[in-house]
Amino acid sequence: MTDLSLPFESRYLPIKKLHDEYRRSIDQPEEFWAEQARQLDWFKTWDRVLDWEPPFAHWFVGGKLNASHICVDRHIKNWRRSKVAIYWEGEPGDNRVLSYSTLYNEVNCFAAVLKQQGIKKGDRVALYLPMLPELPIFMLACARIGAIHTVIFSGFSAQALADRINDVQAKLLVTADGSYRRGKVIPLKAIADEALTNCPSVKNTIVVKRTGTQINMKPRRDLWLKDLLNKEMPFVPPVAVESNHPLYILYTSGTTGKPKGIVHGTGGYLVHNYCAYQWAFDIKEESVYWCSADVGWVTGHSSIVYAPLAHGAAIVLYEGAPDYPDVDRWWHIIDKYGVSIFYTSPTAIRMLMSYGESWPKKHDLSSLELLGSVGEPINSEAWLWFYKNIGAERCPIVDTWWQTETGGIMISPAPGIQCAPLKPGSATFPLPGVDADVVDETGKPAPPEERGLLVIKKPWPGMFLGVYGDPERYKETYWSRFPGMYYTGDYAVKDDEGYYWILGRADEVLKIAGHRIGTAELEDAATSHPKIAEAAAVSKSDPVKGESLIMFVRLKEGTKPTPKLKQDIVNHLRKVIGPIATPEQVYFTTRLPKTRSGKIMRRILKAVAEKASIGDLSTLEDEGAVDEVIKSYQETEQARAEANERN
Ligand code: PRX
Repeated sequence: MTDLSLPFESRYLPIKKLHDEYRRSIDQPEEFWAEQARQLDWFKTWDRVLDWEPPFAHWFVGGKLNASHICVDRHIKNWRRSKVAIYWEGEPGDNRVLSYSTLYNEVNCFAAVLKQQGIKKGDRVALYLPMLPELPIFMLACARIGAIHTVIFSGFSAQALADRINDVQAKLLVTADGSYRRGKVIPLKAIADEALTNCPSVKNTIVVKRTGTQINMKPRRDLWLKDLLNKEMPFVPPVAVESNHPLYILYTSGTTGKPKGIVHGTGGYLVHNYCAYQWAFDIKEESVYWCSADVGWVTGHSSIVYAPLAHGAAIVLYEGAPDYPDVDRWWHIIDKYGVSIFYTSPTAIRMLMSYGESWPKKHDLSSLELLGSVGEPINSEAWLWFYKNIGAERCPIVDTWWQTETGGIMISPAPGIQCAPLKPGSATFPLPGVDADVVDETGKPAPPEERGLLVIKKPWPGMFLGVYGDPERYKETYWSRFPGMYYTGDYAVKDDEGYYWILGRADEVLKIAGHRIGTAELEDAATSHPKIAEAAAVSKSDPVKGESLIMFVRLKEGTKPTPKLKQDIVNHLRKVIGPIATPEQVYFTTRLPKTRSGKIMRRILKAVAEKASIGDLSTLEDEGAVDEVIKSYQETEQARAEANERN
């Protein structure tokens, strides 16, 4: 664990005062958060800061506000009206720059379109769009009229899209004709058409023109956005919603096959994010903030749309792949737009690192002031490469730990208030107001340097309202393991100086290239293949992606394992879930190791793939299954090595 003192001054608070402030935020959370909340524009002040009926929390109860008013309207009343809100860069190299006043006009126009389509407060609108300015504009337009958006990552398959649309019963779908990825066109509308054959709740589809791809427009259902926009620039008053009115629903993977619709409210979510970006990123209105995630994930919701726009900063939105047309595309973008804060994932850093230092060296990266990392543990090698080669040893790196459920950053260095010395790979300390701890299996604080489970002991404002339509799952998944504490599902360790090190998931959720995906979801998708009887998904360490996906499958009686079938299984997973579910290898086995109660012991499969010690086998039902798995693994790997040699 390396210590690294940075040449970064404490700007606001001496360290003692900071610790006092942190204590106050934990001891008097309501007073503390009320002070923070006053930084936002409310139409009506709250009656109560917090209603906590465990495990349900409601923040700023009775307060009224509107997210699009906070992110857009309040900036057009002052000098920010003519400053940049969005720098958008298309993959082919085209670009658009939107000032706050343009953004305001567009949000109003899009809100008028939604109203014209009969969308009302509380209705769900599904957004299946590439990284175009229309995506944040539609999100803000939904928020403006009190509709609830659910963004579905544009890399998801037709089935994944249909499942999410059906779960929220969306009335409207917004999509595009196509999207660009590494120079190719992805036929988004065609994928959406396939999904919609099975989505009776959707009455209309609005289509944004992007690639000019030939598409089918179903009469009366499908409408081009450009035909709906009113050139008169209508003003649509922002609806004053109660603080706990849902702002959005975002699906994420859990430990069952069915993804969970995480519901976020408005007031608490915005207050948390507003503060977290001040503290962790020291964001200001003059910042040029680039988060390289896709808006389809929570990082994109908070870090591309709501937090930076609430601060009146300029955001960069990039449509395409990091390595297209060349591997220095990102460094080029930082140089071109003068990015001051750059936030990305460890997987992306490791990938760009593998191309070498010469690529970033070609560009002027001196505008950078701060770097951030999120989504998975960052190894110290990648951290140091990022620090030296991108941040020129000037920029602190904020390793931010949070989750779709937490809504905002929870554990992170906080250069906006005070930067404790950084340690590469550690998210350092909880932010003010976040009462985190590492506990053992019984819920007692784990001793320093001992691995335990990360928990949060008090509600926080960005906390999700629940799992859409499933309060039982909310209670069971997050609040039953340690009564009174939120269970994060992550392993962590606190070192002897109290620094937090997040070690990865403790549950049956994988993190492949930083993307969260459940083993059950993958296994359900695999067993929907007609030739598969049983499947087990596990991850193994990968030098770039952190973890890569491998599958062990047992075929149905009489089915022969062939290379063609293997490819067919890979294609099937891509089709059912999307490219993020592409396994790196599929191993055929005739038996899977299980407990006596019939649970697959993935830990054994992982140990085989990692060539690690297999550990305790006392609960294993059939020891022969382990030998069988080892045999299958070794034979496949040997065949692969021979094939590599031949090529
Ligand atoms: O395992 C942790 C990991 O990502 C999980 C949450 O995934 P998701 O809901 O998709 O949100 C990702 C982006 C906010 C966590 O349970 N994770 C997130 N940030 C870090 C991390 N692991 C280590 N270090 C981090 N900084």
